[in-house]
Amino acid sequence: MQDTGEWHALSAHREALGGVHLRELFEGDPRRGERLVAEADGWLLDYSKNRLTAETVELLAALADRAELRHRIEAMFDGEPVNTTENRPAWHVALRQPNPPPEVNAEFDRMAEFAAEVRSGRWQAVVNIGIGGSDLGPAMATAALAAFADTELDVRFLSNVDGAHFRQVTRGLDPARTLFIVVSKTFTTTETLTNARTARAWVADAVGTEAASSHFAAVTASPDNAKDFGIDSGAVFAMWDWVGGRYSLGSAVGLSLMAAVGPDAFAEMLAGMHRIDEHFRSAPWDENLPALLGLVGIWNRNFWGWPTYAVLPYSQELALFPAYIQQLDMESSGKSVRADGTPASTATGPVVWGQPGTNGQHAFHQLLHQGTDVVPVEFIGFCRPNHGFSEHHDLLMANLLAQAEALAFGAPDAGDPHRRFPGNRPSTVLLADQLTPRSLGQLVALYEHKVFTQATIWGINPFDQWGVELGKTLATNITAELTGTAAPNPTRDSSTQSLISRYVMKR
Ligand code: F6P
Repeated sequence: MQDTGEWHALSAHREALGGVHLRELFEGDPRRGERLVAEADGWLLDYSKNRLTAETVELLAALADRAELRHRIEAMFDGEPVNTTENRPAWHVALRQPNPPPEVNAEFDRMAEFAAEVRSGRWQAVVNIGIGGSDLGPAMATAALAAFADTELDVRFLSNVDGAHFRQVTRGLDPARTLFIVVSKTFTTTETLTNARTARAWVADAVGTEAASSHFAAVTASPDNAKDFGIDSGAVFAMWDWVGGRYSLGSAVGLSLMAAVGPDAFAEMLAGMHRIDEHFRSAPWDENLPALLGLVGIWNRNFWGWPTYAVLPYSQELALFPAYIQQLDMESSGKSVRADGTPASTATGPVVWGQPGTNGQHAFHQLLHQGTDVVPVEFIGFCRPNHGFSEHHDLLMANLLAQAEALAFGAPDAGDPHRRFPGNRPSTVLLADQLTPRSLGQLVALYEHKVFTQATIWGINPFDQWGVELGKTLATNITAELTGTAAPNPTRDSSTQSLISRYVMKR
């Protein structure tokens, strides 16, 4: 892409903007804050506090066309094998169509029936066992929609192979009244299977080995593996190889969320996702929220060279959203080889980080305001809370708005250099009326398609994750050495060898 006229035009435009300050941009266009916004289905995107102009947006739109974004979107929606290194579609959008493929419909009905039974009172708690995409989506969404959880059911999430997590998650639970949903697309993930085995032993201790199996359900694209584990086929829910883990919240991977909030709220979330899917397909780039988010991301990453960005939801209910976006974005975009096998010639995925406001203000905002690095921020907020403490909500939102204002405009005139705020720090605000199943679904789809937009421009495949494989293989070999089932490997580097021998001596 960097060899194209569109890329060169953006580079020249960036040069021409030089050291422009957001103060000048706002002074030069009193209606900038109304112009550089876009709205879709209740979500407002205000990107006016980024170092760009209307011309930048036109140039970025031309870049999107040059990358054939429209065509690539259709290929994804048509279920073409856009995940080229694994030769399969990435067809998560099919999960939320009003008329989905029959197998999706059938699985949704089975989930709804199962969730109704789970919600009917037999179980005190549901524990989702999974990791990565089999954990972050449902965990994030269950926390986000806590106000819509209409039963006493305690829904918890177990992911880490660290036994401390098992202890923490099961604390206070009655094994006789706990249901485990083992979520693993492959059903081979070490962390998940280790936790599932420990859970089975924990339940069997209380109710006996035979009864224990009725405490387990599974969600997987490898049903034979789940059956081999001893899970009854009636309690095994399908996902398909065309649903990527980090794009799987709308599939049966969301079963624990459905248990928490019920099938209707789950369907509402899917409807919200679908609305944004259709918007992404049809809206012109300069009115297209996910495309704009992605294009502004490209502008900040490639033309200003900023290597990280922060996702800051001003919503405690979205506390896990930054972690969710970390996987969605970094596992998708952390690539230095393009889909065609050639090296990426521009910077690709930035580092994503964040936590909810206002907590972050008392932790890392110092660096956002006065540090030597510029970190673009994506603020997320809601006009109405899901609680009755309106004083709290006004304070929360006042802080969001104040942070965006302070980052952009600063306070440059303080005499004392320590108290000076340079400003000119970019941010974007995403604002919706209220956090509901529908708006959460929209938000998830917004970010999925933001990531897709960027990957299309970078020419990378956002749907594989080969970069996680080497560590898994090495850990399997090292586990054998730590547990004495394999002899020490003398060909290892001296650092790893001596760390292994110290661990083996002291374990
Ligand atoms: O971390 C790699 C990864 O493959 C993720 O992409 C995936 O979401 C996670 O592991 C869990 O995989 P599975 O659902 O197969 O257990």
